[in-house]
Amino acid sequence: MAQTWTPNSWRQKPIQQVPDYPDLAALAATEAKLAKYPPLVFAGEARRLKTALANVAEGRGFLLQGGDCAESFAEHGADTIRDFFRAFLQMAVVLTFGAQQPVVKVGRIAGQFAKPRSSNIEKQGDVELPSYRGDIINGIEFTEAERVPDPERQIMAYRQSAATLNLLRAFAMGGYANLDNVHQWMLGFVKDSPQAERYRKLADRISETMDFMKAIGITSENHPSLRETDFFTSHEALLLGYEQALTRVDSTSGDWYATSGHMIWIGDRTRQPDHAHIEYCRGIKNPLGLKCGPSLTADGLLELIDLLNPANEAGRLTLICRFGHDKVAEHLPRLIRAVEREGKKVVWSCDPMHGNTITLNNYKTRPFERILSEVESFFQIHRAEGSHPGGIHIEMTGNDVTECTGGARALSGDDLADRYHTHCDPRLNADQALELAFLLAERMKGGRDEKKLVVNG
Ligand code: TRP
Ligand code: MN
Repeated sequence: MAQTWTPNSWRQKPIQQVPDYPDLAALAATEAKLAKYPPLVFAGEARRLKTALANVAEGRGFLLQGGDCAESFAEHGADTIRDFFRAFLQMAVVLTFGAQQPVVKVGRIAGQFAKPRSSNIEKQGDVELPSYRGDIINGIEFTEAERVPDPERQIMAYRQSAATLNLLRAFAMGGYANLDNVHQWMLGFVKDSPQAERYRKLADRISETMDFMKAIGITSENHPSLRETDFFTSHEALLLGYEQALTRVDSTSGDWYATSGHMIWIGDRTRQPDHAHIEYCRGIKNPLGLKCGPSLTADGLLELIDLLNPANEAGRLTLICRFGHDKVAEHLPRLIRAVEREGKKVVWSCDPMHGNTITLNNYKTRPFERILSEVESFFQIHRAEGSHPGGIHIEMTGNDVTECTGGARALSGDDLADRYHTHCDPRLNADQALELAFLLAERMKGGRDEKKLVVNG
């Protein structure tokens, strides 16, 4: 079964979701060029993320993974990156406090460019063109020229990823991520929120904790961990030629790593056990994500776990569950039971976005209530099964977009037209994302109080 793996052994397998490049020689030339470029991340960092995720798998941490559905070349600016990071860090603080556990911070960023599509063609009126597959492959504009897959876009995606990562590293280590800053931003959010009353209690307790630390002399000047944070990158490993070109041997361990990002995941549409995407991913040592949708059977999942994590290493595999608010109760328990029965070590994460997309006024949208409801069910089910609800995976932006309905500002279907900017799926805006974090933190605390009651009789 376990045949020899090489970075290009996936090419012998059937494959889904491949773009139709008209000039294969140009594609090969681009891949050869990329193969000589420096890695974007370093294997030691991927190992550090795996260690952090191993703690989550064992119930001692929480994974926050989030970012754009698809990054775009047009929106590549410092403000977009900064605003995302600012919203993301606020969520992280709130969740750290709620969970009373370290939060592992992983962005869907600096490489999230390729999109699987349900149809190879898009039809507008009488015109049929190839579907948009993400800026790394073709252009979003509905013209014949833009929709032709262009290998040169891979070079642009690589360069954009490098620049994005460079800024994120500077933010994470250079003082911007200082807990004092993040705390102040959070207070600003609470003050302006229509739900201020509700969030203030939690915010006040965080403030008190900060004041207490200061009083006993723990400050960001004498404790670097208060002004720095570990931030990791991730994306769907869909475009395997690009991934292969950035697959490198780590000189310390002799192992192969994807160096396009710290963590990569396999989509719900490309997880066939005998196909190319599983083949590629099984051979690299990075932490992996696997999207789990309603069609995944318990046996199918166990087969994939054996392929992707034969050594049952904690932190290697994160199961990103995306069932939909009305389906999670039907599908999640059977998967949890199979995994528990076989003693497999995984991180359970909840993607409450992809199973909750509806069309409203001709816009793809996601109601905030359904997103919240799927996450709440996810927590309840894990509590009932005795397993650890290890994380969330969300599509979000730091900008004030109007793509998902609901939330404290009660965005309606009529508001969607105002600032609907996404290149792909609807994202939570900064306020909605932070609200979700507050509501979850409340629940996490509730869950702990419940446990204490049981323990204390
Ligand atoms: N270094 C700690 C951590 O990453 C504390 C911290 C510093 C932090 N800045 C942060 C936590 C910003 C969340 C957000 O957990
Ligand atoms: Mn998406």
